[in-house]
Amino acid sequence: MSEVSLCGVQLRGPVLNGSGTFDVIAARRAFGDALLTDFPFDAYVSKTITLEPRQGNPPPRLWETPAGMINSIGLPNKGLDGFLAEDLPRIAEVPVPVVVSVMGFSRDELATLVEVVGERDEVALIELNVSCPNVETGLIMGADPAETAAAVERLRPICAKPLIVKLTPNATDPSAVARAAEGAGADAVSLVNTLKGMALHPRTGQAWLGGRTGGVSGPAIRAIALEQVSAVSAAVDIPVIGMGGIASGHDAAEFMAAGAAVIAVGTESFRDPAAGRIVAAELASIGATTTPGKGEPVR
Ligand SMILES: Cc1cc2nc3c(=O)[nH]c(=O)nc-3n(C[C@H](O)[C@H](O)[C@H](O)COP(=O)(O)O)c2cc1C
Repeated sequence: MSEVSLCGVQLRGPVLNGSGTFDVIAARRAFGDALLTDFPFDAYVSKTITLEPRQGNPPPRLWETPAGMINSIGLPNKGLDGFLAEDLPRIAEVPVPVVVSVMGFSRDELATLVEVVGERDEVALIELNVSCPNVETGLIMGADPAETAAAVERLRPICAKPLIVKLTPNATDPSAVARAAEGAGADAVSLVNTLKGMALHPRTGQAWLGGRTGGVSGPAIRAIALEQVSAVSAAVDIPVIGMGGIASGHDAAEFMAAGAAVIAVGTESFRDPAAGRIVAAELASIGATTTPGKGEPVR
């Protein structure tokens, strides 16, 4: 697979991981240094961090669906200070550029995260996970074009690193949010995050997940993600990072044909931690017959 440039950052290929779906520190414990010599992704995206530490949602946190899963993990993390002190140095041992995903519950919180993370040399790009409410306005940041624009406008002057806005598929019009992000200075958009869903306990009929609802991911959402990637790619000029149920090189090629500059593998990595590498190899083998980014269907 040939090199690609994402917002000025050179990648050896076009396959990223979806934030929160590949714990590189745990994988290193399991696979040792072999993980680094044969790293499955061309850029590594951290799971989302927040300013303060979070426990995450009460269990159960996962439900397997016929074609994917519903998670209600709830962003457990050590908070900014713990992440920078303990996790980032270990994450930075990966042989590919590092993207750090951040989420803030107010614009001030987001600004602190982006400013501090952006100063670290280990970090090549920052992804803004905007699938959360702004406590000041009550609106889901990424579901509302004006909220998204206000957040990115605040961050743009304080961060020299490329900013990726991760779009939620639960917005009424993801293309309008993408245009707002682009207009406010975002360097790329990524999509899709998970779709809201729920599962019931088979005996009690009560919500199965500790967080009541969760995010649906995997092949179940692929067709929806493909449509949104196609629509957003047509709406903006900045690069689009496509994801949602990608489990093969053929799936990846379809997202690129729909307009994605690069793609990410998420849920499939839970089934096979080498999925990123396999998708990349399959994509390379069919690459000669596809034209990424032209919106042509791949057969
Ligand atoms: C268990 C799990 C945890 C996730 N954690 C995050 C996260 O921390 N931040 C984020 O932006 N997206 C998170 N996601 C969403 C994925 O990055 C991705 O956008 C979504 O799952 C769609 O891709 P997929 O169908 O290939 O998994 C998570 C998804 C799963 C399944």
